[in-house]
Order: sequence, then structure tokens, then C-alpha cells
Amino acid sequence: MTADSLRIEPGSLGIEPVEISPTYTDHLAHNYHPLEVVVATAEGAWVTDVNGKKYLDCLAAYSAVNFGHGHPVLIEAAKAQLDRVTLTSRAFHNDQLGPFAAALAELAGKDMVLPMNTGAEAVESGIKVARAWGYRVKGVTAGQAKIIVMDGNFHGRTTTIISFSNDPEARADFGPYTPGFVSVPYGDSAALEAAIDENTVAVLIEPIQGEAGILIPPHSYLQDVRRITTDHNVLFIADEIQSGLGRTGATFQCDNAGVVPDLYLLGKALGGGIVPVSAVVGNEDILGVLHAGEHGSTFGGNPLAAAVGHAVVDLLATGEMQERARTLGAHLEQGLRAMIGHGVVSVRAAGLWAGVDIDPNLATGRAVCEALAERGVLVKDTHGSTIRFAPPIVATEEDLDFALQQLREVLDSY
Ligand SMILES: Cc1ncc(COP(=O)(O)O)c(C=O)c1O
Repeated sequence: MTADSLRIEPGSLGIEPVEISPTYTDHLAHNYHPLEVVVATAEGAWVTDVNGKKYLDCLAAYSAVNFGHGHPVLIEAAKAQLDRVTLTSRAFHNDQLGPFAAALAELAGKDMVLPMNTGAEAVESGIKVARAWGYRVKGVTAGQAKIIVMDGNFHGRTTTIISFSNDPEARADFGPYTPGFVSVPYGDSAALEAAIDENTVAVLIEPIQGEAGILIPPHSYLQDVRRITTDHNVLFIADEIQSGLGRTGATFQCDNAGVVPDLYLLGKALGGGIVPVSAVVGNEDILGVLHAGEHGSTFGGNPLAAAVGHAVVDLLATGEMQERARTLGAHLEQGLRAMIGHGVVSVRAAGLWAGVDIDPNLATGRAVCEALAERGVLVKDTHGSTIRFAPPIVATEEDLDFALQQLREVLDSY
């Protein structure tokens, strides 16, 4: 496949070619700086823009599209549910939610599911559950609960979550900040243990820090976190919103590390790239602390979300996606590592997820992303010179070879 063979006749898609005018985003808040690509359609690992140009999607909506655009099984589940009922609120039961919760709990090896919508809501919900558990079960003094988080974390954008971010861009001018969080260096188990006191209710951790640049701690670190949290009667909350559900070649990155957290926070791919679906998953002795009326969401657990989420869980239950992510990931990693010393400084990979540090003397991550987009590959930069590869797991080896070749040629062009 070559970059030149990527253009198709836009008319054949039934879409109108458009130019992005300077006024195209006039009525949008300026909280994003997207690449100049206007997607019109997508299928599998590929998207097509309004001018009929095709791109290999190597971001997969930050892993929300793990199973590819328009996965037929997921689309079928959504369409069938659209024709039945889409929203009831939790004021009533719906016939999709119970079976979805049972399937997801089984996949995670836990008892209970708290359904929400976005990732940030799952994080907020996990924080509330941990605090309530701290007061009601552990016996922490009212109002004193403390949660330990990691330097460099990214858990979302709400006011409480950005309160414990170290990223000045994410938090400046959004205070006053929510108290009750202490941040320690990621990967330093001694610092974690030293930060625990009698008021500590939880450790909130990304098993791989995605937004920080795919930072992968050694498996022994997550095992230390498990041991330390157990020893001190502190909850281990794993934010697997980006790392979970197949991306790293396992159902959860915690599986790869051989640990079981107390609470999983899930989102992104749980909605199959169709609807926002997130969840907190844990055992009854922890999630059971919530009583009726203490927490909720109008859309959380809606029948459309539950039907799609259930189909996602069924896809993952066979293990095929995880296996495919492992095999394809090894191929991608090998190709990327071959570029070390040729424009690439370092590569960190887990399953089909890779952070690639570009030599900052050559180009910024943004410039590389723009050049790759020109050549029909969509990726996203983070922290200046790092670019991330997270293609849909339905991509082929040939697709990955295409992306690798484009990156090689971009780097050679500097
Ligand atoms: C690890 C992690 N947690 C939470 C979130 C927040 O998810 P959402 O954007 O759906 O609120 C993200 C989003 O990138 C994430 O990567």
C-alpha cells in the first residue's frame, strides 16, 4: 500500500468535499488543537476525510475504538437496541443493565458494577466509593480521608481530578482545588509506602501512564502497590480506562503484572466507540458501601449503553482481541525499535500501544504528526516530542507496515 493509493472519489461516499475555512471552528470553544483532518466516514482501522482521503487511524480515539470503527457485532447490538428502548433512567429497571453488569463483573472477576458514562465520572465515582469505604468500613475520622495519586497522572478533566494533576496546563486558573490528595513519584514504592497514614483510604494509579507518554512501570512495582495497599488496609484503585479492555494484550494491564486491584475504573472501549460507557467494578464489600440516593447518573446504565457494553464484554470474553493485540503489538514494537538511532530516541510498548520519543533536534511530535497525516496516518503527540501509536486491534500487519514505512520516510526527510 502506498500513500498515493489512499484517495477515493468523495462522491462515492455520498459526502460533499469541503475546505476547512478559517471560520470552521468559530463556534467551538478553543480547548483542542486538532490536526487539520475532517473525518467523514470510518470502517475498521481506517477513516476517510471529507475530500475522500483515507487515513490509517493509529490513535483509535485514545483507545475508545479498540475494536475498530463500526465493528459489525457492536453496530448490530446498538441498532437492535435503538429500535427497542434507549433511555429509562435508573428510576426504573431496564432489561439490558442487569445482564451487562453480570457479564462485566464476571470478565473482571468481581461481584459488582457501578455504571457511569465518561471516564472522568468513573474516576469521580471511584473516589467517592473509596472515601465512603474509608469512613464506614475502615473507620477514618470524618472529613480526613486521603487518597494517594501519582506524579504525572491523567485521570480526566473535572475540578476534583485536575486538583491532583501535576500538569500546570490542566489545572492553572481552575482552582480552588479539592483537598484530600497526595501525589508521589510514579514507580517509587518506598515513596508510596511512606505517604500512607491512618487516614489513607486508597491509592489511585494508572497501571500504564498513557497521557504522560506510555510510561510503563516494571511489573514488580504494581505487585509492590498491591502488597503495600493490602498491608495497610488501603484500596488499590486501578484506572484502566485507557490501558484496559484489550489494548495491552490482556483484558487489563493489571493481568499482565499479575495483580488484582480492589477497584477497576473502566471507560473508553467499554462503549465500543459508539456511546460513552464507563464503570467502577469491584467486590460487594467495597462497592456495596453506596446506598440508594448517594450517587447516580441520568444516563449511567442506560439500555443502549448496556447493550453495547455487553457486546464489548462478549467480544473480550473469547480472548481473541487480547491475543491479536499481543501479536500485532510485537510486530509494531519491533518496527519502531528498528528506528531507534534513526530519528527515534526511545520506544515504550505494551500490547498494541506504543510511545515513541522523537529526537527533539529533528522535529516536534506535532510536526511529525502533521507530516504523518499528510501521508495518511493519524497519530497524536504528547509532551512535546512523544507520539503515541494505538491503532484499532482489528488493524492488519500490512496496515502497521504502512504506518511504520510512513514514519520512517518522515524521519528520513528531516
Ligand atoms: C487513564 C484515564 N483516565 C481517565 C480518563 C478520562 O476519560 P474521559 O475523557 O472519558 O472523561 C482518561 C482519558 O484520556 C484516561 O486516559
